[in-house]
Amino acid sequence: MSLEQEISKRRTFGIISHPDAGKTTLTEKLLLFGGAIQEAGAVKSNKIKKGATSDFMEIERQRGISVATSVLAFTYKDHKINILDTPGHKDFAEDTFRTLTAVDSVIVVIDVAKGVEEQTEKLVEVCRMRNIPMIVFINKLDREGKDAFDLLDEVEQKLGLRVTPLSFPIGMGYDFKGIYNIWEKNINLFSGDSRKNIEETIAFDDVSSPELEELISSQSAQRLREDLELVYEVYPSFDRQAYLNGTQQPVFFGSALNNFGVRELLDCFVEIAPSPLPKASDVRIVQPNEKGFTGFVFKIHANMDPNHRDRLAFVKIVSGTFERNKPYLHTRLGKKLKFSSPNAFFAEKKEVVDISYAGDIVGLHDTGNFKIGDTLTEGEVLHFKGIPSFSPEHFRYINNADPLKSKQLEKGIDQLMDEGVAQLFTLDFNGRKVIGTVGALQYEVIQYRLEHEYGAKCSYENFPIFKACWVEEPENPKDPDYLDFLRVKQKYLARDKQGQLVFLADSAFSIEMVKQKYPQLKLHFTSEFDK
Ligand code: G4P
Repeated sequence: MSLEQEISKRRTFGIISHPDAGKTTLTEKLLLFGGAIQEAGAVKSNKIKKGATSDFMEIERQRGISVATSVLAFTYKDHKINILDTPGHKDFAEDTFRTLTAVDSVIVVIDVAKGVEEQTEKLVEVCRMRNIPMIVFINKLDREGKDAFDLLDEVEQKLGLRVTPLSFPIGMGYDFKGIYNIWEKNINLFSGDSRKNIEETIAFDDVSSPELEELISSQSAQRLREDLELVYEVYPSFDRQAYLNGTQQPVFFGSALNNFGVRELLDCFVEIAPSPLPKASDVRIVQPNEKGFTGFVFKIHANMDPNHRDRLAFVKIVSGTFERNKPYLHTRLGKKLKFSSPNAFFAEKKEVVDISYAGDIVGLHDTGNFKIGDTLTEGEVLHFKGIPSFSPEHFRYINNADPLKSKQLEKGIDQLMDEGVAQLFTLDFNGRKVIGTVGALQYEVIQYRLEHEYGAKCSYENFPIFKACWVEEPENPKDPDYLDFLRVKQKYLARDKQGQLVFLADSAFSIEMVKQKYPQLKLHFTSEFDK
């Protein structure tokens, strides 16, 4: 098969949702359809259970599961599907943001009763900013929930999307009869005594036919006709290009738990979802069908086995093919590396493979060469963009609690930061180290892992910071205003791990004051900005 054909078969995507909306259940059902697993219950939830924030076993369990489910690959209708796992817990949001840099599209799962929730809003916003194609799956139709039209309005308003339903529910909750599939023009009936997993699909392109009454009762038939009339009136028809551009989002309804509406979603997904997309680098846009291999690291997993200091770097292949034992250029370090046992991922296992294609993810064993965002190529010097750090929400000084183990502490902090567990800032004026995280849970994770993996002990001290702002150095570094800013804010200036200057602002007010006093100064809320 040609490179082009291999690439066009691939669909690499992520499922995002607020915890409990049904991401794990949907993933499992997709794997069942793909024949990748044989029974329900095989996919473990990567959720951190409520109230378990101090339970280190839980943290380890979560890490263990998340390596097993990082990439779930299967074949469906001659397509190679790669599902990239995204942690739902908000304290791991940064991990999810980074994974989203490696997907070509996403499916957003929403609970029909709860509607749009906080975590969904944040994640969709990131996808929207990057124009990632999105399909919305409204789940749990077997339960009483919000009216379908109200929900579509909510999705448009809260998530800023422009939706078009490709299926529509017939009833809901106790009265749920099935779904009219607008995309395939058929009716899926939800029937049987137990109302579980029983599905009947009847081709039905003319809803005005009196047969509809016989199938779903006259009341439901009438209601469906009215609903569909409104759908066709209010919503634009599906436009694949608009979906691919990220300006239109098709919506499906179903019940993942009952296996209902999932096949319809998957069938439409493989047909419309994009194959691997071009990606911008600092020098040019790289096309997936270029012969030369390029890829970037979006995730690092370290020290799963305390006896081996192993790390697995997850690389998304952007172009060409990745081959075993071929030397590739690590463009940040400027050195060539060879990988004798690259892992490819299947449903729940990984295997050493000789060749992987653009769109695929390979797991590379690493002895400390990789950081999140690193680029590999066949020789060309380029760096992929788009893995910025966002300002953390929590900041604490980290102190060494065992003076005999300062080397271990340093190494541990360094490696955990490379893995992207949290961000490190070093204060300019006294060299103290500050750890910034998205959630408070990370501090426990870091403390626990430093102790168990590096034999180092740390303690924390509060540092009341509101936001990290990356400072763009002016064209003239001797600019008097800039020098004045550096002097006045001396105690709040730090370097991130890349050595970029960061202003750690203690309040929204102080950011405002800085902006007023130094109107020429450019502050950014992510580490990656165009000058
Ligand atoms: P998540 O990964 O998005 O966090 O959600 P997950 O799939 O774990 O689902 C959260 C809960 O919602 C689970 O119940 C799951 O069984 C249920 N669920 C998922 N899809 C549906 C659906 O279509 N209909 C209904 N009624 N429920 C659904 P749980 O009680 O929290 O867990 P479990 O004990 O059933 O595993």
